[in-house]
Amino acid sequence: MAGGDGGGTVYVTRLLTDDAMAAVAALGRPVVAGREEPPTREDVLRDVAGAVAVVATLTDRVDAAVLDAAGPGLRVVANVAVGYDNVDVAAARARGVVVTNTPGVLDDATADLTMGLVLAAARRIPEGDRFLRRGTPWVWGPRMMTGLDLSAGATLGIVGYGRIGRAVARRARGFGMRLLATPSRSRVYDADADGVRFAELDDLLAEADVVTLHVPLTDATRHLIGAAALARMKPTALLVNTARGGVVDTEAMVEALRAGRIGGAALDVFEDEPHVDPRLLELEQVVLTPHLGSAGDRTRSAMCLLAVRNVAAVLAGDPPLTPV
Ligand code: GLV
Repeated sequence: MAGGDGGGTVYVTRLLTDDAMAAVAALGRPVVAGREEPPTREDVLRDVAGAVAVVATLTDRVDAAVLDAAGPGLRVVANVAVGYDNVDVAAARARGVVVTNTPGVLDDATADLTMGLVLAAARRIPEGDRFLRRGTPWVWGPRMMTGLDLSAGATLGIVGYGRIGRAVARRARGFGMRLLATPSRSRVYDADADGVRFAELDDLLAEADVVTLHVPLTDATRHLIGAAALARMKPTALLVNTARGGVVDTEAMVEALRAGRIGGAALDVFEDEPHVDPRLLELEQVVLTPHLGSAGDRTRSAMCLLAVRNVAAVLAGDPPLTPV
């Protein structure tokens, strides 16, 4: 076995795409693979024992207890997601374990879903769909179910101008939106060349007709959009979240929506996923999807394969392709 790790297993917590499962088999190591459903904590603590590599998903909490349960042979945790708030990176580093994520391959898919949610909320598409399904009698009328015109120079506020934020900007420009953004901490882009104006968060919140979130969840961004931020937004403004639920204070958002202090929301991610606050289900001006940002078939395959390639690189003694 490569690396003198005594033939440790590759533990894959969830069933990956077929091509990625084939790539796992091709690593030539014993494989312990979970099912399509998420494993329980007990499953993980049992199945990780003796692993040299773990391929984890964003629903798996990979903390010190899991790293310790793996044992001293563990060399890499490859997360199948660009976000890695589910992994205790400091605990991994302290144990000499490499952590990788899957940046780049899901920018377009996530930006597509973001634009879908912007349109859905702005033009009230799910609301119209529900209206018809309820059998509501209707006749076209000049005042019927109007929403926000994106192409009339509506302003999109992109919170976090990283890869995904930038892919959203490219699409929104095609719809004729004005673009404001907060710079990303980790990536530098030429805002002028992109037709984007950089702004402070408070100014962006006050000016935007649609606010869309593209920051990772960290200690610095948890509840970034809380009561104070929501109070800065226009009463007509829409909040779109395809990043992580914890970036928004759900309690404050529900209150703002109920009181009409913001115009609506389109949410793909939730605090305490998969739980969805039942009060959100009652609000017509809220669009909800179950964490579908990267759920394109080719995109999911690319994410899974990138995770396995990271494992292969580390086990071969090469640098990981996309370390965090
Ligand atoms: C999905 O949420 C990801 O982080 O890739």
